[in-house]
Amino acid sequence: MTEELKRYIRLIPKAELHLHIEGSLEPELMFAMAKKNGVKIKYNSIEELQAAYNFNNLQEFLNLYYTGADVLLTEEDFYDLTMAYLKKAHEDNVVHTEIFFDPQTHTVRGVKFESIVNGIIRALEDGEKEMNISSHLIMCFLRHLDEKSAMKTLDYALDHKDKIIGVGLDSSELGNPPSKFTNVFERAQKEGFLTVAHAGEEGPAAYVWEAMDLLNVMRIDHGVRSIDDKKLIDELVKRQIPLTVCPLSNLRLKVVSDLKDHPLKRMLDKNLMVTVNSDDPSYFGGYVNQNYLEVAHALNLTKDDILILVKNSFTSSFLSEKEKKRFFDKVELADRSLR
Ligand code: HPA
Ligand code: ZN
Repeated sequence: MTEELKRYIRLIPKAELHLHIEGSLEPELMFAMAKKNGVKIKYNSIEELQAAYNFNNLQEFLNLYYTGADVLLTEEDFYDLTMAYLKKAHEDNVVHTEIFFDPQTHTVRGVKFESIVNGIIRALEDGEKEMNISSHLIMCFLRHLDEKSAMKTLDYALDHKDKIIGVGLDSSELGNPPSKFTNVFERAQKEGFLTVAHAGEEGPAAYVWEAMDLLNVMRIDHGVRSIDDKKLIDELVKRQIPLTVCPLSNLRLKVVSDLKDHPLKRMLDKNLMVTVNSDDPSYFGGYVNQNYLEVAHALNLTKDDILILVKNSFTSSFLSEKEKKRFFDKVELADRSLR
């Protein structure tokens, strides 16, 4: 890949729409928080921990991801976690980010919902002031738990509607179809939350249909398995439903065996509204620019492809039309100076 394309990728302003804040917990910070909070980690060193980042599927990753999150206890921890991510995002020229958090992972350990939300939001506010990064917060339900637990989590969120723009669905996909969460998504929507869901990562294209038709989601997270279903592709294109694709995640979780086989370029060629994101950057080998760089290299993407992807990232966001326009202008200005 040319140095010019690398530079283009690094310097073009972009939005990130698929980022689990718990998945941005770097080993150094994990060990520091463990020490501070008196939480035991079963690995003796950062090297030993990182040696375990060798996953054969989504579940093997999730087991480690949930264990890692055990070190997060206080509002300050959630602030520090979020601030560390924002600094990385800023280095990658991310000017808008929509981040997920998994409250159930923490509330079961006795962490207060308020501590989680307030810590994250305070960092997002400081990120806006200090780094000019705009942001939204999305609360995910854990799909391996039941709908009742999701409902209880939604109850908590009702007091924080001013801070949480939407709800999503993550964790173990196979065996936990979107249809399991029809009622809670319907209620969330009635309460004014926007909606997204992970679907078609390890699960089949049928789960993407369910997320669209039963949960009524506005975006699909991952959605790469949609490529197996021609009728689904036509529908996603027709409705311009965004798919927040995460190439390095797909590689590390063996959704694809080689980035050269990644469907991103085929999806672009079919006019699907695809975006590039980092998912859980601490665990998958890189933040958003690394995802663009590696997938661009593997699939021979051009500047024009990258420009479409970054424009898609703003189009697919939950920003207002006026805010989108402001970012499109920024992108076009940068594009002209980088051509
Ligand atoms: N898929 C499902 N659940 C998740 C993921 C993912 O990629 N990352 C964090 N939770
Ligand atoms: Zn994800």
